[in-house]
Amino acid sequence: MKFEKLKNNPKLPKHIAFIIDGNGRWAKHRGLPRSFGHKAGFDNLKKQTDYVEQLGIKNLSLYCFSKENWNRPKDEVDYLMKLFDQMLDEYKQRYLTKDVRIVISGDMDDQRLPETVRKKAKELMELTKNKSGFIINPCINYGGRQEIIKAVNEIIKENKKDIDENEFEKHLYTKDLLPLDFIIRTSGELRTSNFLPWQSTYSEWYFPKILWPSFSKKDLVKALMSYMKRNRRFGAIKG
Ligand code: IPE
Ligand code: IPE
Ligand code: MG
Repeated sequence: MKFEKLKNNPKLPKHIAFIIDGNGRWAKHRGLPRSFGHKAGFDNLKKQTDYVEQLGIKNLSLYCFSKENWNRPKDEVDYLMKLFDQMLDEYKQRYLTKDVRIVISGDMDDQRLPETVRKKAKELMELTKNKSGFIINPCINYGGRQEIIKAVNEIIKENKKDIDENEFEKHLYTKDLLPLDFIIRTSGELRTSNFLPWQSTYSEWYFPKILWPSFSKKDLVKALMSYMKRNRRFGAIKG
């Protein structure tokens, strides 16, 4: 199927996520420093975000930086922080006049993050909080287990007892997002790496071997076609 034909197809997922993996290997294969891979990866992120929006998919989550990624060399982390800073500037320029909401999942009070990133992230969330046309959710300084612990601690502080799933979800970064339908992790790694564990219990997964900077519009269409053929049973008997 062609991209154009997929637009607003009711079978499309409503919330998709990219775990953008393979930037470093993409650069290595070309004899380039890893930072070049990250730059190419972020350029591709913009393109893919546009495709997802054009298709009419309502929510997009992006795994950009995990809690565990602090274990990387300082110069690589610094470079990634520079890219996030730019990304936040671009979001502001591009989306403020549109019906687009930016939610950022991750600890934005962590002092290890540059102050500009923390400030811009919070400002952008605040400025766009009443919009709902398309939600972009970059996960920066995000860890799934930490998110669950954060929720538990908030609930304890509020003195709530016997809470249910709905109540618990109110304490997650993704509380205003739709259920996570489909997750694409590039580069061939078959693991979740602490990404949205609560939200992904019934997500469909897709693991193309392609490195993220090379993941194309055609690859996105192929992935979505795979999703649309699946029979999501949620424990019941269907189809
Ligand atoms: C993903 O690419 C980008 C981030 C984690 C920010 P990697 O940097 O993990 O690339 P590989 O896995 O080393 O190839
Ligand atoms: C997962 O990729 C995190 C992001 C994409 C931001 P990693 O490259 O950090 O994951 P591992 O270390 O291979 O599990
Ligand atoms: Mg990786």
